[in-house]
Amino acid sequence: MIIAIDGPAASGKGTLGKQLAAHYGLRHLDTGLLYRAVAKALLDAGLLPSDEAAAVAAAKALDPSRFAPAALKASAVGEAASVVSAIAAVRAELVAFQRDFAARPPGAVIDGRDIGTVICPDADVKIFVTATPEVRAHRRALEFAASGQGMDEAAVLADIRARDARDMGRAAAPLKQAADAHLLDTTNMDISTAIRAAIDIVEAGRVGRGRD
Ligand code: DC
Repeated sequence: MIIAIDGPAASGKGTLGKQLAAHYGLRHLDTGLLYRAVAKALLDAGLLPSDEAAAVAAAKALDPSRFAPAALKASAVGEAASVVSAIAAVRAELVAFQRDFAARPPGAVIDGRDIGTVICPDADVKIFVTATPEVRAHRRALEFAASGQGMDEAAVLADIRARDARDMGRAAAPLKQAADAHLLDTTNMDISTAIRAAIDIVEAGRVGRGRD
């Protein structure tokens, strides 16, 4: 089974993806980490995330088995990832890895921005997770505080709005809900309610296609 989860920054898709994968015994891929790793390679080399040739070279050289997710979670890396991910040639370099990951048995939960639309258009279940920018900023600010990165919530909200605009407005695989994706708005849900709702969506999808 392949479950595709898409949604904007800080919508909770990573947490949902991890929990759904554990629930169904599937592998999990947070594809944001791929773009974050490309962005971090550029930042570490003192290059701009908009440097197309360097970004494509970094994407080609990527070794996802050596990721250190903690170092990739910084807000500056997320911002830079949003810039590199708008480069079509960078996205093209990362397609095969994502599709291969999805295809390996027993299947996977993959989360990102274009999973249901581009990477796995034939996914068994597609979920588009969202929440208002204010709620997402509040959750993200709490996460930053918990990890010791003090961040003003108004600044986090401004970053989230900028990121939404860039991720939805780009020409290459923009963030959008696939026509056959189920919308999960978690604005008024805590995490356990959201997980329950996501499982209900998957179960309804499985019944619809004969529970294979
Ligand atoms: O989900 P995230 O915050 O870790 O993603 C970081 C950036 O990477 C995001 O702003 C846009 C980009 N991204 C993408 O374009 N496509 C994906 N499948 C995943 C992330």
